[in-house]
Amino acid sequence: MQYSLLAAALGVSAVTAFPFVARTPGVDASMLERHTPSLARRSNYARQQSGGSNPGGNVNCPYIPWEDHVPAPGISAAYPYNGAKNGQPGNGRGGYPVPAPGDTAHQFIAPDYTKDIRGPCPGLNTAANHGFLARDGITTFTELVDAQQNLYNVGYDLAVLLALLGLTLTDGDIVTERLSIGCDATNRTSYISPLVPTAQSGEPGLDGHNKFEADTSLTRNDYFLSNGDNFNFNGTLFGMMTETTGGLYNRDNLAKYRYQRYQQSLKDNENFYFGPFSLLLYGASSFLYELMPSGPDYIPDYATISSFFGAKKNGDGTYAFTGQEKIPDNWTNRVSPYTNEDVVTEILAQYLEYPVLFGGATGNGGFDLINFGYINNGSLIAPPGVPQTACLLYQLLGERVPSGLNVVLSPTIEALSLITSKIGLTGLQNLGCPIPLTK
Ligand code: HEM
Ligand SMILES: *[C@@H]1O[C@H](CO)[C@@H](O)[C@H](O)[C@H]1NC(C)=O
Ligand SMILES: *[C@@H]1O[C@H](CO)[C@@H](O)[C@H](O)[C@H]1NC(C)=O
Ligand SMILES: *[C@@H]1O[C@H](CO)[C@@H](O)[C@H](O)[C@H]1NC(C)=O
Ligand SMILES: *[C@@H]1O[C@H](CO)[C@@H](O)[C@H](O)[C@H]1NC(C)=O
Repeated sequence: MQYSLLAAALGVSAVTAFPFVARTPGVDASMLERHTPSLARRSNYARQQSGGSNPGGNVNCPYIPWEDHVPAPGISAAYPYNGAKNGQPGNGRGGYPVPAPGDTAHQFIAPDYTKDIRGPCPGLNTAANHGFLARDGITTFTELVDAQQNLYNVGYDLAVLLALLGLTLTDGDIVTERLSIGCDATNRTSYISPLVPTAQSGEPGLDGHNKFEADTSLTRNDYFLSNGDNFNFNGTLFGMMTETTGGLYNRDNLAKYRYQRYQQSLKDNENFYFGPFSLLLYGASSFLYELMPSGPDYIPDYATISSFFGAKKNGDGTYAFTGQEKIPDNWTNRVSPYTNEDVVTEILAQYLEYPVLFGGATGNGGFDLINFGYINNGSLIAPPGVPQTACLLYQLLGERVPSGLNVVLSPTIEALSLITSKIGLTGLQNLGCPIPLTK
């Protein structure tokens, strides 16, 4: 485990007054009264890891022996994409067709769900279906960094940041640098030698709750509202998203839909938690209009988004999962790299259109607010100045982050050293972000 759970309430404070709420249209302040939760309810927060035979646990996780694992082939001289390989920066120039015409290594192949792991991230599921990540869904830091650049033209800085968050936050393995993009596949992610599977469980992969994965997802259920299924596509939610956005999944429309999802969780989910990591959800929704649209027009329309999400409309107007998250036909990726600064700009823009409170439900309608980094009494305060703003997401790496009202994720020394060495490659220290060195 790269982040250990501490039963401490760092950064979380119960407050009696909610001045921000009163000013927020649509937030019912009467729901937010101070309430002391019972211990029984609070213990839910400690049980937020998928496990065993639960959805996302190792028992029902698709399995093939590690000997049968085929790594992603990477780019070739014939099909160089933007030149990203071995976890290094590519040339950052996009605007080319993906997959490259003739590049059979990156053609779509539908996953075999009895063998291949897929999870809550349509961007990575699609990448695996096209062989930019290993098709069995067990990937590595290097594959993640290369794939994000070559396929989507994510900037090197953001590609490294997301891959590190995935690897360390969701308890991928920092020795093998392997990560499951879905359920718990510990005996392959932590495999040290073919004869010694190190453990059966303990590295939950991207399905792990309240790490990278969190409540109020666009198309995935809240963990506690679905007996732990926080990763499968939900057609009802895809339908809501399509209706609210009118089929144009742009910044304003998705900001509105994210707000709607927040209100839904606040109302329905007595274990609702919206913490610092939930900042990443605004980043994910920006990917619909920044990374998924195709040139030359780059319009985040229904045809594009439904292809990446594997959504199809039924005759009765509802939506279902095709099982095939796919790059749209004749797709051209974005021209300029999508950087850390770009995504932070989009996170803040969406948040400020419909500000909500960061915190967690305490039961009986109570809601405790969080103080952490740029989150002040539950509100995100846009930090002034670009370098500082660019650091917004770095505060999630290598810090002790509250991932529940009584749960703090604290990176281990080993994770910090990995983070430091990888971040070092991006030259990000020069932006003045506080990079963790000793803790
Ligand atoms: C290493 C890189 C990445 C990691 C570790 C990662 C991980 C995740 C995780 C854990 C979630 C679930 C969050 C939640 O809703 O609870 C998620 C959601 C999402 N990701 Fe990724 N992701 C990565 C890169 C990408 C890229 C490059 C794209 C874009 C093409 C993408 C598109 C999305 C979208 C659209 C969602 C929201 C899905 C929904 O809410 O229904 N991701 N990602
Ligand atoms: C690894 O775990 C899976 C369950 O996720 C199990 O089916 C498989 O037999 C295990 N393999 C080894 C080598 O222990
Ligand atoms: C899909 O989401 C809706 C709305 O949150 C929920 O009522 C329904 O139970 C979910 N469906 C599944 C199969 O989880
Ligand atoms: C993709 O391009 C090919 C060749 O130009 C064309 O035949 C095909 O109709 C296009 N498909 C779509 C979905 O636009
Ligand atoms: C948060 O709000 C409480 C109550 O209004 C106030 O006493 C406290 O100083 C605020 N804390 C911060 C960090 O703004």
